[in-house]
Amino acid sequence: MGLTIGKYSFEYEEYDSIEDLSPEDAHLVAEARKATKLAYAPYSNFLVGAYAALNSGGFVVGSNQENASYPVGICAERALLASAAQLFPNEPINSIAISYHNLNGVSNKPLSPCGMCRQALQEYEGRVNQPIRLLLSGMEGKVFVINHSISLLPLSFSAIALK
Ligand code: THU
Repeated sequence: MGLTIGKYSFEYEEYDSIEDLSPEDAHLVAEARKATKLAYAPYSNFLVGAYAALNSGGFVVGSNQENASYPVGICAERALLASAAQLFPNEPINSIAISYHNLNGVSNKPLSPCGMCRQALQEYEGRVNQPIRLLLSGMEGKVFVINHSISLLPLSFSAIALK
């Protein structure tokens, strides 16, 4: 039989609240929540904030920036990665906390990065040769911790395919 069933699974940590995190991680989540104030999201009313800790000790912030021409808008995660690449070239990112403030509803479930941002996170990990840890939350409630952002993108397309 020429058939094999592939199987994929990954583990992540689920914390009941920011209070169950280490002080360092709790700080990152608190800053991501604050960064939602920097978002420009008049079309979706969905304000996303991201806050990264670099290996070197530096920090970078990101937020979503929308546009009247909708596809021009950029997610908080990719805004953050673009800033990191300019401000701290080639420095690995240790962790990124991501949060959101939903002006249309509650913000108590962890936000998961969109597919395009997962692809961008993968590229950044490859570029600086280090996995990125993700801390996902809303303005309150549970926090999910994912140790390698690449685990959110099974069977991904990457530069290897171009060789
Ligand atoms: N958005 C982000 O910034 N990050 C995500 O992980 C999901 C979605 C933004 C894009 C758009 O400005 C708004 O949230 C609604 O989709």
